[in-house]
Amino acid sequence: MFRPLLSLTISLGLASIVRSAPPWNAQPFSPPSYPLAVRSPYLSAWLPQGSGLALNEVWPEFWGGGVVGWAGFVRVDTTTYSFLGLPAVPGATFAKAVQKSAKFTATQSVFVLQAGPVDLTVTFLSPVEPKDLLKQSLPFSYLSVVAASRDGASHNVAVYTDISAEWVSGDNALRANWTTTTDSGILTHQTRLVNPTVYGEVRDRIQHGSSYYSTAKTANTTFQTGADTVVRANFVSSGALPNTEDKESRAINDRWPVFAFAQKLGAVTSTPSAPVVFTVGHVRDPIIQYIVKGNTLQDRLPYFLTRYATAAQIIADFLPDYTKALGRANAMDAQVRTDALKISEDYAAIVDLSVRQTFGSIELSVSRSSNGAINATDILVFMKEISSNGNMNTVDVIFPAWPAFLYFNPELGRYLLEVLFRYQESGLYPNKWAIHDIGASYPKALGHNDGGDEPMPVEESGNMLIMALSYTRKTGNRYIIDTYGRLLDQWNQFLIEDSLIPNNQLSTDDFAGPLANQTNLAIKGIIGIKAMAEVAGLLGNAGEAANYSSIAASYVTQWETLSASKTQPHRTLGYNSDSSWGLTYNLYSDKLLKFNLFPQRIYDQQTAWYATVAREFGVPLDTRHEWTKTDWEIWTAAIASTKEVRDLFISSVRKYAANGLNRQPFGDWYETPSGRVNGFRARPVVGGHLALLDL
Ligand SMILES: *[C@@H]1O[C@H](CO)[C@@H](O)[C@H](O)[C@H]1NC(C)=O
Ligand SMILES: *[C@@H]1O[C@H](CO)[C@@H](O)[C@H](O)[C@H]1NC(C)=O
Ligand SMILES: *[C@@H]1O[C@H](CO)[C@@H](O)[C@H](O)[C@H]1NC(C)=O
Ligand SMILES: *[C@@H]1O[C@H](CO)[C@@H](O)[C@H](O)[C@H]1NC(C)=O
Ligand SMILES: *[C@@H]1O[C@H](CO)[C@@H](O)[C@H](O)[C@H]1NC(C)=O
Repeated sequence: MFRPLLSLTISLGLASIVRSAPPWNAQPFSPPSYPLAVRSPYLSAWLPQGSGLALNEVWPEFWGGGVVGWAGFVRVDTTTYSFLGLPAVPGATFAKAVQKSAKFTATQSVFVLQAGPVDLTVTFLSPVEPKDLLKQSLPFSYLSVVAASRDGASHNVAVYTDISAEWVSGDNALRANWTTTTDSGILTHQTRLVNPTVYGEVRDRIQHGSSYYSTAKTANTTFQTGADTVVRANFVSSGALPNTEDKESRAINDRWPVFAFAQKLGAVTSTPSAPVVFTVGHVRDPIIQYIVKGNTLQDRLPYFLTRYATAAQIIADFLPDYTKALGRANAMDAQVRTDALKISEDYAAIVDLSVRQTFGSIELSVSRSSNGAINATDILVFMKEISSNGNMNTVDVIFPAWPAFLYFNPELGRYLLEVLFRYQESGLYPNKWAIHDIGASYPKALGHNDGGDEPMPVEESGNMLIMALSYTRKTGNRYIIDTYGRLLDQWNQFLIEDSLIPNNQLSTDDFAGPLANQTNLAIKGIIGIKAMAEVAGLLGNAGEAANYSSIAASYVTQWETLSASKTQPHRTLGYNSDSSWGLTYNLYSDKLLKFNLFPQRIYDQQTAWYATVAREFGVPLDTRHEWTKTDWEIWTAAIASTKEVRDLFISSVRKYAANGLNRQPFGDWYETPSGRVNGFRARPVVGGHLALLDL
């Protein structure tokens, strides 16, 4: 047993490496964790950082923690160096490459390590292709390695990498089996559980489907499967592998089987070598269980089945597409950065760190028609409420992420909402307000026929109305309002009842508990009513439009009195509580939809107030606690009346993300005095960091 246990890895990693800032050049900053392969709730490998861990100082981890074994060595002439993961190879000696730089963009994490006389550039590309549904639906990611001589001399270089069977389960005591395919121009190692559980999860890891690790087969490629110590020792000592398979199916942690490739680059000079490319994927079919009209369950299939029948077919396109995929990714990175730099460098960095995390929470699906054919037009997108509880298509998680979908492709947003609309239209859901989520636990979208979903009546009803209208405005597509106008008005009627004086209830910030008369929640409800006024107008109901508009306007007038603190210049957290205050981030929708329903003096007053109550890492969410949320800080920045306060919010979030105190994928909930994260991690709500790009 040469693999340290998880807890040991973490403690060794953190205890032995204590630094205030990483010794390498980190651009745009050193994040809590680098996305490595992040494309779905289950293909999600990250490099934990804390105050800085090199690519070869820690094992990559799943978003929820737990090692996903991913190792890399490079052999330069007669010396072998590790460059990825923390492999231990008893009886064989190797050096550690020295990390010189680390960089993240919207789609890539790029590390440069010095391996003796050679520099290695290691690129992890997780494509984000929101306008190309087929490409977006592929649960695959790239690793590429480029070598260049540093000393002018030519050096003989070979690159090695493997993954472990930890990629197929959350329980390392379970048995896996694997095969290696060598009969095409591509070598692929496939691994799965011997006894899979369809739709089952263990520690948030899916218990069915297969992992795939692939590379091009050339005259210089070798492979091996087998015990980690055996396989890695072969490469460390010789720079190549014996092309053999260990076919003994066994537990993931029984002599840790690994699935390895080695590629000889030959003589490498100061001209960078062509990239050696590897792809890693996790594929399953079906992907989602979904409740449909008539109260039956439908198996949803991965969208890529509209084009590819097998994983091998995907890989045959995906692997050789690397250069073009990199070109598309670079173009997207540049576009996002250019847009975000119009705000600031700090803002661009936050946005860059948020993009893969947002898209890594969703999966695109289709269904099968009764005749067995794939129904390519029946597209639904599912989102996992990662880390906070695994709910599916949570309305108040889609809502904070909405700015990213509006920016990249609002149709993906519509497919997320369609999941919820269709279920509520079926009549199976009993409540008169909008549902909270489509299923308590991903990937089972079982609905809530008992109406027992987490109740956030004003929150979700307002969210659905605001998103429905913003989608319609942005795309000109009337599908949602034409199909679901009745439901939208049902939720609007509820808002008319309950948003000026909201009952005791939860808002999206449910960790803070319920509260009556929430000022910020009332804002959302009132904007929802105004959104319905516009929808009614679009549907040709001018009388309703005028009525709802005047209700919204009258609510704003009353709200302005109800929400005023009588003792201090700010809005209260809840009515009749003069010293309380909170972020009124729901005003963002008033600006997004260009209603200007709430008078500018409210924005100005709140902006001035925030500057007086900011802590070291930002403005607390409200007076109940010192914590805050990155998404709501950025939404509030987006509507601040002054550049100074806008930048105060943005720079606080950047400072938190870069403070070196946290090691998990970007957590949106944190303490403003200390900059320490709370429980959340890797949540799609960071899509809300794009809020300023939609105004
Ligand atoms: C694992 O074993 C099952 C059952 O024998 C077999 O159907 C499957 O093809 C094997 N999978 C791999 C990846 O070897
Ligand atoms: C294989 O390696 C040799 C040197 O060992 C090199 O000249 C050749 O270009 C390589 N071939 C491929 C397909 O990578
Ligand atoms: C395909 O799905 C769409 C959307 O759900 C549906 O309207 C259509 O009837 C389906 N087609 C077939 C052939 O089942
Ligand atoms: C909510 O605010 C209204 C208006 O000020 C007030 O009448 C009501 O008592 C408040 N409700 C609660 C539970 O505090
Ligand atoms: C306006 O809408 C409310 C809520 O549906 C309704 O009670 C009221 O009768 C409507 N007023 C008019 C003039 O239609």
